[in-house]
Amino acid sequence: MTDPNRPTDGPFPTDGASPTDGASPTGATPPADRARRRSQSWFAGADKTGFFHRSGIKAMGVPDRMFDGRPVIGICNTWSQLAPCNAHLRDLAQYVARGVYEAGGLPLEFPVTSLGETLMRPSTMMYRNLASMDVEETLRANPLDGVVLLAGCDKTTPALLMGAASVDLPSIVLSGGPTLTGRREGRQLPSGTGTYEMYDQVRAGTMTPEDFVGAEACMWRSNGSCNTMGTASTMASLVEVMGMALPGNAAVPAVDARRRTLAHDTGFRAVELVREELVMSRIVTRKAFENAIRLNAAIGGSTNAVVHLLALAGRAEVDLALDDFDRVAAGVPLLVDLVPSGQYLMEDFFDAGGVPVVVNELGDLLHREALTVTGRTLGENTEGATGWGSPVVRRRTDPLQENAGIAVLHGNLAPDGAIIKPSAATAELLEHRGPAVVFEDIDDLRARIDDPDLDVDADSVLVLKGAGPKGYPGMPEMGNLPIPAKLLRAGVTDMVRISDARMSGTAFGAVVLHVAPESAAGGPLSLVETGDMIELDVPGRRLHLEVDDGELARRRAARGEQRPAGSGGYMQLYLDHVTQADSGADLDFLRGRRGSEVPRAGH
Ligand code: FES
Repeated sequence: MTDPNRPTDGPFPTDGASPTDGASPTGATPPADRARRRSQSWFAGADKTGFFHRSGIKAMGVPDRMFDGRPVIGICNTWSQLAPCNAHLRDLAQYVARGVYEAGGLPLEFPVTSLGETLMRPSTMMYRNLASMDVEETLRANPLDGVVLLAGCDKTTPALLMGAASVDLPSIVLSGGPTLTGRREGRQLPSGTGTYEMYDQVRAGTMTPEDFVGAEACMWRSNGSCNTMGTASTMASLVEVMGMALPGNAAVPAVDARRRTLAHDTGFRAVELVREELVMSRIVTRKAFENAIRLNAAIGGSTNAVVHLLALAGRAEVDLALDDFDRVAAGVPLLVDLVPSGQYLMEDFFDAGGVPVVVNELGDLLHREALTVTGRTLGENTEGATGWGSPVVRRRTDPLQENAGIAVLHGNLAPDGAIIKPSAATAELLEHRGPAVVFEDIDDLRARIDDPDLDVDADSVLVLKGAGPKGYPGMPEMGNLPIPAKLLRAGVTDMVRISDARMSGTAFGAVVLHVAPESAAGGPLSLVETGDMIELDVPGRRLHLEVDDGELARRRAARGEQRPAGSGGYMQLYLDHVTQADSGADLDFLRGRRGSEVPRAGH
């Protein structure tokens, strides 16, 4: 009599092949390849360790035949109701799983730390590195041969990429996609950008607080990330041009059926990546980073891409420096007419054809031979994606702006660099000289910015200290300091602002960010005093504090050394190890690849 609990296939010796052995729709995998897979270190043994490993998975209803050496694909999910932009990712994960099954793999979904931009305090940026550690350690510690990275809200994409890069399995990203176009009373409501604009109207007395609250439910009409070319859409676009996601990843709306199809295809492709042993380091190369930097210019992408790409390069062991963002993007025009640099939203970008059309239009400005997760080159992926002539994606012969890259500034105020996004700034302010109005930290800013007695005019340069990686801590998106209310009422819409903070990708203005070293690390920014003259010269790439070295030395001596104090826990680890913005604000000990070697068993 046959023992009903005795497996008839799988890791135990059998006479014949398992139902799926070599029967994958994408072609058979030699048994030797299957034996090499990491997952087989967990599932192939006939001893008690193998028993534990299989038994635990079978408790979820997985049949024994699934342990036959097929690729095991992790679905790394940042789903969370604390990250509302990612709240639909459990739904998308089901479609990823379908694709994995169709290709002959075994999907295993797992949660990792999620990062919700709208809710987390003091800043999601402080937790990006923590989430990346979660991803890295979870991937290495488990029976995974490949991984689908489900990301959406701003920091979730770099966090997942950074963790995965340090492990270097076959990996592919699926973004959650943007929310639908928000509208109110006949006007579109751009995520984030619209909030800043409306809040300025409230402060200027031209919008009622009731109307402001009324706009809340109109801005985000569905699950999904910001509908502007903010950081989430920027990172989803860069992931696509770097070759880490299927074509179309960035722009398909979160709730469009085609996002589900993309999820299915992504799962299918993840299995093939394992069979082809196409690991992440073969895709995330120097060329991929250069493509990302150039596309970022063409789409008017977020300044946050700078710190995320620098951190990712550190993990991937790719040589990339802050100045590369300026040098590599030289001559790249702004082609995508999206808020905050332009006027349209992500749904319009999708309708215009999305990233593939921009890639095609950029032509030889990109490394078209770069390898991607499709197994083909970037150029092959986008062949024929010419769009239909939508005004959302401009021709190279008719750009919105020439030379749209992020400008990297140097000078005695930022010895290690600072950045500005000229495409989102008022052109007349890109060369400006004015007296500083200094705020020692964000509390000081909030207390005084709308004080009618604040000595400030449109030529003043607003300076914020204490908002860098260590200072806040967590380098918040406070760099677009609010225009003082009395100037708003006088019709001022932009001013030069300087800080060691970041800025939301949905924000805009003549805003100098990421000043390094930051003030909390003793950078010259800490020495600026109200009334000092500051010169901003973006064409000359210069940021200069008109105070002589002797006076700066006197101020430094008077100030003494000030180190931000932690209170233990993760924050202490972060404060002790976070690097400056020009290195990506990663934790110093996380740089580099540590690989996917299988740890010894714990049973
Ligand atoms: Fe989540 Fe903008 S707040 S993507």
